[in-house]
Amino acid sequence: MFSPALTTISKSKDPLRIAVMASGKGSNFATLLKCTEKNIINAKVCALITNNSDSGAFKIAKDNQIRTYLLNHKNYNTREELDYKIIENLSKYSLDLILMAGWMRIVTNILIDKYKNRIINIHPSLLPSFKGFDAIQQALDAKVKITGCTYHIVVPDVDSGKILAQAAVPINSIDNHHSLKERIQAAEHKLLPYAISIAGNAIREG
Ligand code: GRF
Repeated sequence: MFSPALTTISKSKDPLRIAVMASGKGSNFATLLKCTEKNIINAKVCALITNNSDSGAFKIAKDNQIRTYLLNHKNYNTREELDYKIIENLSKYSLDLILMAGWMRIVTNILIDKYKNRIINIHPSLLPSFKGFDAIQQALDAKVKITGCTYHIVVPDVDSGKILAQAAVPINSIDNHHSLKERIQAAEHKLLPYAISIAGNAIREG
C-alpha cells in the first residue's frame, strides 16, 4: 500500500473538486469515494455523469447521495452535442479534475479543451501498449507476461495523453480474461489515490 505521504494532497488545504464519468460497474468510482471518506485523499466528489441507468456507478452514486446526471448518448445526434451537455451540467462545480472511470464513449475536443489537462482516464494496460478496445484481451492474445493499468491525461488521440501513474500486473499461464481483469482492477484501485494526488498537485501548482 502507498504511504500517506504519497497519497495525500499536500499542496493545498482546499479539497480537490472531482467529477466522475462512468458507464459500468463503478468499482473505481467507489474506490474514489472511499478514499475521500477516509481522508486518504483530500477531495470532494461533486457529481457523476453516466450514460447508463443500469450501471453499478449509477447505484453507487444514489447510495452515496452524489448528484448524478444521466445523459444517454442515444439522445444526442453527435458526440459534440453530448459533450456540450456534459459541460452544461458540470460547469457549476468549479472542477479541478474529471475522472473517467470506465466511461465507454469517445469524447471530443469540446470537452477536452474545456477541461484541458484536467481529465484523467484509467486504461487497463501499460500504455503505450494495447490502446483502444479490450486491452485485457489484447494482452492475452499477444501472450505478454506483464500488463497493468495506466492513469493518463485525456487528449484527442485515444489512450495517448501524458502518463500520470502506472502499475504492472504479471500474467500467469492459467489466466483468463476474468482473472486478469480482477487483478488489473485491484491494481487500479490501489493506484488511484496516488494518481489523483499527482494530477491534483500538478493542477494546484499551475
Ligand atoms: C476499469 O477497469 C478501467 O480500466 C476501464 O474501465 C474499467 C471500469 O471499471 N477503463 P469500473 O466500472 O470502475 O469497475
